[in-house]
Amino acid sequence: MKGKEWYQADDVAEEYDDKRFSEGGAFIDRREKAAVRSALGPLEDKTVLEVACGTGRFTVMMAQAGADIVGLDISAAMLAQGREKAKRAGVDDHVEFMRGDAARLPFPDDHFDAVFAMRFFHLADRPVTFLRELRRVTKGQIFFDTFNLGSTRVIYNWLLPMGSRLYSRTDVESLLADSELELESEAHDFVLPYGFYRQLPRSVARPFRTLDTAIGKTPLGDKLASVSYWSVQK
Ligand SMILES: C[S@@+](CC[C@H](N)C(=O)[O-])C[C@H]1O[C@@H](n2cnc3c(N)ncnc32)[C@H](O)[C@@H]1O
Repeated sequence: MKGKEWYQADDVAEEYDDKRFSEGGAFIDRREKAAVRSALGPLEDKTVLEVACGTGRFTVMMAQAGADIVGLDISAAMLAQGREKAKRAGVDDHVEFMRGDAARLPFPDDHFDAVFAMRFFHLADRPVTFLRELRRVTKGQIFFDTFNLGSTRVIYNWLLPMGSRLYSRTDVESLLADSELELESEAHDFVLPYGFYRQLPRSVARPFRTLDTAIGKTPLGDKLASVSYWSVQK
């Protein structure tokens, strides 16, 4: 997995948030956070594991909302950013950042109320192995996203240095079947791909996001979406 190595570099970790979620990228961050919050529901006193938590942008948000959360990632450099973020937000006492591999989660079976992983499955060369681990450590709920085959993302996906796997709906269905997981709900978004938004100043990106959201509400929206959010149960 190239992504496993790519995110270990200090400069990649330091620039991660700014490169992706400043300016037009803020629309992406906002949407992803809303997707996670809505999928996981009320968080007060819920035990949650975030796999591949990176710089902790969801981990900190969940801690602020009252979850008892562990963020796990393979990259010490990304985790260092997360710890800083938690300290700045004043939630460092409520969140644990842990270095580990998603292929071998260091937790007993049925340990967490919910487990989620964002922007991880496109890096996974053995997605079933990872999904089975998520299944093992959750009491029930799992949430993750995928980048879609047949979407506008194909324009630049092949250029990405950390590698990026695209999934069809059929791929996700067979992944869930192989992991003995049941699809509970799904959402699809971003006809214009993430890479487009992050190149633009926020004011220029805003009308595109409005248009994108409008197309997303039409019957064509789901077919053209570059990102899918999957809520599943074991
Ligand atoms: C694209 S970043 C996403 C980070 C975060 N989830 C977010 O959405 O901002 C992918 C993350 O996956 C982590 N990663 C890659 N392979 C991993 C593995 N085998 N186990 C745990 N983390 C892994 C990387 O270190 C990186 O932090």
